Amino acid sequence: MNGRDLVRSVKVVGSVGAAQRLRTVRAAWRRRRADASGLPRRGAERARVPGPVQDVKPEPGGGVVRFTRSELRIVVTVNGAVFWGWDGADPEPSYALAGRCPEPDPRAVLEPDKDGGWRVVSERATVVVSRHGAIEVQTPGGVVLRRDLPPRWWEPVDGGAARWLQRSEVAADARFFGLGGRAAGPRLRNGSHRLWNTDPRHTFAPGDDPLYITMPVQMVVSDAATHLVFHDTSWDGTVQLREGEEGAGSGHDRAGTSELRMDGGPLRCWVIVGTPARVLHAWASLTGAPALPPAWALGHHHARWGFGSEEEVRRIVAGYQERGLPLDAIHLDIDHYDAHQVFTVDRERFPKLSVLAEELRRDGIRLVSIVDPAVKAEPGNAVYDSGLVEDAFVWDSAGRLVRGVVWPGESVYPDFTHARVRRWWGGLYEERLAQGFSGFWHDMNEPTSFTAFGENTLPRSARHSLEGRGGDHREAHNVYALCMARAGYEGLSELAPQERPFLFSRSGWAGMQRYGGTWSGDVATGWPGLRASLSLVLGLGLCGVPYSGPDVGGFDGSPSPELYLRWFQLGAYLPLFRTHASLRAGRREPWEFGDAVLEHARVALVERRRLLPYFLTLAHLARRTGSPYVRPLWWGAPEDRTLRDCEDAFLLGDCLLVAPVLDPGADRRAVQLPRGRWYDTVTEEAYEGPAQVLVEAPLGRIAVLARAGSVVPVRGDDGGLELEVWAPARGRIGGGLVVPDGGDGWDEPEIERYVAYWEGQRVVVRREGDDGSVEPSYPVRVRGLGTR
Ligand code: NOJ
Repeated sequence: MNGRDLVRSVKVVGSVGAAQRLRTVRAAWRRRRADASGLPRRGAERARVPGPVQDVKPEPGGGVVRFTRSELRIVVTVNGAVFWGWDGADPEPSYALAGRCPEPDPRAVLEPDKDGGWRVVSERATVVVSRHGAIEVQTPGGVVLRRDLPPRWWEPVDGGAARWLQRSEVAADARFFGLGGRAAGPRLRNGSHRLWNTDPRHTFAPGDDPLYITMPVQMVVSDAATHLVFHDTSWDGTVQLREGEEGAGSGHDRAGTSELRMDGGPLRCWVIVGTPARVLHAWASLTGAPALPPAWALGHHHARWGFGSEEEVRRIVAGYQERGLPLDAIHLDIDHYDAHQVFTVDRERFPKLSVLAEELRRDGIRLVSIVDPAVKAEPGNAVYDSGLVEDAFVWDSAGRLVRGVVWPGESVYPDFTHARVRRWWGGLYEERLAQGFSGFWHDMNEPTSFTAFGENTLPRSARHSLEGRGGDHREAHNVYALCMARAGYEGLSELAPQERPFLFSRSGWAGMQRYGGTWSGDVATGWPGLRASLSLVLGLGLCGVPYSGPDVGGFDGSPSPELYLRWFQLGAYLPLFRTHASLRAGRREPWEFGDAVLEHARVALVERRRLLPYFLTLAHLARRTGSPYVRPLWWGAPEDRTLRDCEDAFLLGDCLLVAPVLDPGADRRAVQLPRGRWYDTVTEEAYEGPAQVLVEAPLGRIAVLARAGSVVPVRGDDGGLELEVWAPARGRIGGGLVVPDGGDGWDEPEIERYVAYWEGQRVVVRREGDDGSVEPSYPVRVRGLGTR
């Protein structure tokens, strides 16, 4: 580009920028006007509480308790979960549930309790309802896990949605987790947490809340038990959390409190009690098994907003190949679209995209496409034209199409809460498959509209189908991306039935794991952003969304070589391992940070590839059990309070403990070990937990420890599967599960079970089957033998 071209392009960009700014002002006014006329005005309200109990009606799994001003339905279902709904709220219809509500457990019956109250006793929990409508959930042993005070409603006198408040108390020692993807955590901080999916407009760090994925799902961990509570309501709300305090044996404990305020929607909730693993298992049986990513999606992905051309993509791929760096996927951002229009290709800069895709595929590299929901509102744009014919877009209450502003300028939004619209949208992926794309990256689907002021989303008064029930954006907003994911997933399942779809989405809601995963969104480049990356993955996993990962290196600016490397090393142990950055950010390729970083990044990439069979096993186990790949250290020991507060390390499945470096200048770090023996996987030094130990973490690696006795499936030098077995402690039996799968299809490989134990002076590894145990059919390498 010569000087004159440069000046001209700056001018063009400048004027495009000015035009776009003007659009955002108009969009903001439109939004304000739409809501001024389209939303019911909040006038006088009447407050209500349930009042005293009147009578009951037993039903399978529980029954209905009638109060003077409300009624409460309680059902214990066969998966051990407890449901209750006020004012006649049923479990269905629900966007969170995977299918029909599970059957009631016939053993659970409503029976009288003391002081005029009622209770339902079930295998995992007892629910006690006081005569004024307080609800206690107790362990089978009678320890109170939560006490929900009688709810309060505020009903508009002239009709419309009632606001409500639910105050709850939990044990003084309880810790809160979840609420979707939160940047500060995973232990949720005291204070207010909003439930409204939000594009924060800029890169985020731990102080920013809410972000793209919020959900009214809390995991509450206390000495007595863990429980998950889910308020199945998609409306805007806030949760005010305050951890309790223990009175050091004085008997004056202060309970922890959680106050949920909702702008509308049914007051209904699910509670699941048990160990973390049992709780998430039941949660997955309720809201759906996590989608299984294809094998390649568990490798390394490289993305960038602004590759800008096929040549640049080839240059980057060659950069990986020439240096012998493993690469499994390249992501194309909006700059490969024609004028930023979804489901199009810029033919000048990507003239032979399908050829490129084919070539990359031959080299084992898949192409992933960004997919934005907003459709440029311009006749001649095929998606807009066909959407108009389908009546696919969101309308306002006055019968006009709702227009927002996104990358292509003035845009309209498909109403994914309509089955017909989902089918239409799902069919559009045919064009993407024809271009050679194998995976899909849903973005801007909070949904975002750039507005100069006010909220950067659709008007709250915008009308949605909500599966034919009809409603507005106040109810549809939080499930918009979930429904978009469903459209994509179902479309792909039909278009390419032989492959499991790969899809991940910036926004979502409870149940999104059925269709795919997510990523951090625009995490700020900096050490706090690195911490936020881990918090998000852990927190989402506890909400049932196991597949996620950050923009390695951060989305904006330029990380220092050290920060880039530490991020890379963490990313290599997270389900989605993807380098990505903004148009304006510095480079993110591993060779752009000097020779030392390149060599260390290579080690991380090679190790990730070696661990691929383990990641695949974790993916299968997540699907079958609901357990996330990445788990907090307290996963197996929630009663261990030191572990409960530990936020800077995690378990990767049952076998590995990963302690990333999250601070500059570190070459060692303290690690809180759960019970048992743990080996440093590089030095093979053994540590005994529970303990806090200091482990080496030089620039070249982060600390990864293996649990004694674990059996880790890894990829051998010849590409075949091998078992890496970490010697059990003497007298102990170790073992592990392996799901041998290298594919992208729907085969259901059998789960293989291994045991490892000492026999004399050697460690024996056997595969357990129905007919006894046999020699493993894979090569076995026992490690950790040299340590005492
Ligand atoms: C916002 C996304 O979070 C980011 O990852 C993407 O690069 C930009 N949109 C451009 O599409």
